[in-house]
Amino acid sequence: MSVVRTELKDGILSIVMSRIDKKNAINADMYLGLKEAIEFADKNKDVKVMLISGDGGCFTSGNDLFDFLNFKDDIKTNPALQFIHTIKNAEKPIVAAVSGLAIGIGVTMLLHCDIVVASKDAIFQMPFVNLGLCPEAGSTVILPQLVGYQNAAKLTLLAETFTAEDALKLGLASYVVEPEELLSFSNEIAKKISLKSEKAVLTTKRLLKNSFKTLLDTLIDEESKTFLELLKTKEVRDNINNFLNKKK
Ligand code: COA
Repeated sequence: MSVVRTELKDGILSIVMSRIDKKNAINADMYLGLKEAIEFADKNKDVKVMLISGDGGCFTSGNDLFDFLNFKDDIKTNPALQFIHTIKNAEKPIVAAVSGLAIGIGVTMLLHCDIVVASKDAIFQMPFVNLGLCPEAGSTVILPQLVGYQNAAKLTLLAETFTAEDALKLGLASYVVEPEELLSFSNEIAKKISLKSEKAVLTTKRLLKNSFKTLLDTLIDEESKTFLELLKTKEVRDNINNFLNKKK
């Protein structure tokens, strides 16, 4: 079964991450599936808005840690980096419906979404430094601008979990809703956007993202190089192996 399910209905392309047994950890296949879904949405005139969510009451536990041990070294062909560039450049609006866990890239991808709806019980974490890594996906520039430097430092240097209410206060989430209302509410938000003037919506998104664009193109490559270098270190590999071995 595919690790990314898509369904197009009434102008909304629903994109669901689905590896329930691994808490929707994102492996290479899932990155490529997400990338293809976003590219499809941008090209297809019937798609007005994308809605990203995770299966089984969980958004995602972040990059698949097993995959990290065999990460593709080339920043042009690495599936994670291809996905990051694709979501950053997405032309159509993206609504994210976050339930359960949003960890690592599960948080940083939200910085490229337009509306983030979080379930009241959602837990967020940017655990990069705990693994010996640095944040990615342009988060080192978007996060401080969005939440302020001190908050960005707190989230990334302490790397502790935070709640949906915290995310709302910080401006990382746009709405917090009851768990059972997450999908219907997120769909309603997507529907509202889909009914507005398409040209006005696309232009507005493009202009909102404009100021970051050039800076992000350079910065993501720089972050990625550093991230890939850290990933090769013994410290990081030991941390990942410790997590994986604990499970055996
Ligand atoms: N990569 C690979 N596998 C993962 C994963 C990840 N990021 N997150 C969870 N899994 C797997 C677990 O290994 C486990 O697999 P198993 O049943 O074959 O042993 C399964 O998903 C369920 O996870 P488990 O740890 O048992 O669930 P939990 O509810 O106790 O904890 C997490 C959930 C997400 C808090 C915990 O799994 C975790 O910390 N994962 C790593 C998160 C992370 O560091 N992500 C990368 C950030 S850069």
